[in-house]
Amino acid sequence: MDITAIYPGSFDPATLGHLDIIGRASKLFERVVVSISESSNTKRFAFSEEQRLAMLGKIIKPFPNVSVATFGGLLTAFARSRGSAVLVRGLRAISDFEYEFQMASMNRYLAKEIETVFMMTSPKYHYLSSSIVKEIARLQGDITGLVPPELVEDVQAQFQL
Ligand code: COA
Repeated sequence: MDITAIYPGSFDPATLGHLDIIGRASKLFERVVVSISESSNTKRFAFSEEQRLAMLGKIIKPFPNVSVATFGGLLTAFARSRGSAVLVRGLRAISDFEYEFQMASMNRYLAKEIETVFMMTSPKYHYLSSSIVKEIARLQGDITGLVPPELVEDVQAQFQL
């Protein structure tokens, strides 16, 4: 089957956990569109849309079938506009499950033809989140090994004192 998968998120910033999912999804689907949400009612972003787009652009280079886009509005509308019937989400722990279950159920209600596919995050990234990376960077800690090497400077620069 010729499937374009959408991998949505805020990626504020992208971490090694996200990159793990991107790499694995790129082997499962013909095309993967990493899709950055433009704004959110619930989250305040540390990085602008342009910065998040530029950072993801750097880390998808090894994967020829992966591209990056931004989207506003409903995720299901964006997926439809890209002719995609698959949403990919990474699951870290049981604590992610309730939120993801609700989101997948609502997306199914909104667009029956679109499936959400969950991938288990590799165990070494279970503890990782974008918020924790930002907290460490804000406190001038070392974020090497938490974000892709190409992004270490970009993230640190954002929190330079
Ligand atoms: N490894 C490590 N961490 C991971 C991870 C992985 N594989 N996958 C996700 N995370 C972390 C992220 O870093 C993020 O951490 P943070 O909360 O500290 O920022 C957290 O898990 C969840 O982030 P993310 O996967 O980026 O999702 P999100 O909840 O920020 O974004 C959208 C969710 C954008 C997909 C959702 O809000 C959406 O679809 N919005 C569009 C509007 C819409 O359609 N609404 C109706 C949907 S029901």
